[in-house]
Amino acid sequence: MARSCLTIVLAAGEGTRMRSKKPKVLHEIAGLAMVAHVTTTAAKAGGDALAVVTGPVSEEVRDTVAGLAKDVRFYEQTERLGTAHAVLAAREAIAERHDDILVLFADTPLLRPETLTRMREALADGAEVAVLGFRTQEPAGYGRLLEDKGELVAIREHNDASELEREIKFCNGGIMGFAGRNALELLEAIGNDNAKGEYYLTDLVEVARARGLKTVALEADEEEILGINTRAELARGEAAWQARRRREIMLSGVTMTAPETVFLHHDTEIGIDCEIEPNVVFGPGVRLAGGVHVRAFSHLEGCRIAPGVTIGPYARLRPGTEMAEGSKVGNFCELKNAQVEAGAKVNHLSYIGDARVGAKANIGAGTITCNYDGVNKFHTDIGAGAFIGSNSALVAPVAIGDHAYVASGSVITADVPPDAMAVARGRQSTKEGYATTIRERSLALKKSK
Ligand code: UD1
Ligand code: CA
Repeated sequence: MARSCLTIVLAAGEGTRMRSKKPKVLHEIAGLAMVAHVTTTAAKAGGDALAVVTGPVSEEVRDTVAGLAKDVRFYEQTERLGTAHAVLAAREAIAERHDDILVLFADTPLLRPETLTRMREALADGAEVAVLGFRTQEPAGYGRLLEDKGELVAIREHNDASELEREIKFCNGGIMGFAGRNALELLEAIGNDNAKGEYYLTDLVEVARARGLKTVALEADEEEILGINTRAELARGEAAWQARRRREIMLSGVTMTAPETVFLHHDTEIGIDCEIEPNVVFGPGVRLAGGVHVRAFSHLEGCRIAPGVTIGPYARLRPGTEMAEGSKVGNFCELKNAQVEAGAKVNHLSYIGDARVGAKANIGAGTITCNYDGVNKFHTDIGAGAFIGSNSALVAPVAIGDHAYVASGSVITADVPPDAMAVARGRQSTKEGYATTIRERSLALKKSK
């Protein structure tokens, strides 16, 4: 569709019912501010211009949106006089006469791009106004969509509705699209003669019809227009978002044995034929190539994982971790800013931070890279094919050469050349029969008491 589209996002809501110092629309779903979910959805539906209308105290909202969307303009609604009044704060953008104008609420993060595309198609087909409705068993509080012979004739706000109108279960989701060419004139014709004394955007329907223009209602799932006002609703929104994204990922070719226990970030990328076991949490910035096996109870963030890698169970991967083809990280291991090269294994109880683990190296159980002296961080370099014996401490900065061998229990403070063997622990001394001597001495002491 080569039509131009302006999206106006109403983002004025404060944090009152969230009981928060943070503006409501900055609360996150899958790690992304609600307002950013809405602006990205608009961009995906071909919205080429973006206008965000905020309330008077909104610097944080501006900073967040500006950091995520390009070509965004901000407008301030200084007095809260209703949704139509808020839209008119973006008068300058509306005057540009885009083909389509969409109005979205920033606290409705589950809206899908496909739904906006359907609205834009209705506008392209000649509708002056397209409204997104949903059916609910509990319509109280919502504007009702009044239809006649399949056409939308008006939206009646709950407070202004008659008993009979309140029986209607088809409600306004708040999302509206209208043609750009007459928009300013129509919006300015809206009055405030209603129960709340507000300028209602919803009156655009009647204003358009009075001029003989076509108005339509489209239907979406109730979930899509879920408006979030409290932290309980935020959790409901998160659950709905997670369920939707898990399903998409499974349908794209990923196995999840207990999807309801897997938590995704908005930017999580999982390639085909990956298998995700129960209770796995993805933080920001995770990319799994195809055929990766993430075993139960693993926590991943900021990492890139190549094909055929096995992670966990109980592994923690922190930012800067890269695992090459066929490498493995096992139970109770933590990797941070670690480059694990092809076929290398870190299988049990290790901390590998600020380090390279060369191809096919084997890191024994309980190995620790001592990367921090309390002030600075230092790098550990482990060569290809090196073998680090169990319970070793590698005190960085330090390098272990290719195919070198570190004896278990060592505290390595100096570089180990390739093919060398390093032992750095007390030498064992064994005294024949001495255990008997100690035992007899102890028994004698006990008797004398
Ligand atoms: C609105 C709709 C209603 C719909 C419901 C869906 C209107 C008049 N009513 O009602 O038909 O069923 O959403 O959730 O549109 N806002 C401003 N400035 C204002 C007033 C509102 O920016 O002066 C913003 C709010 O921050 C919010 C949105 O517009 O994001 C909706 O306003 P709200 O007062 O919550 O409208 P509802 O009564 O929920
Ligand atoms: Ca509302």
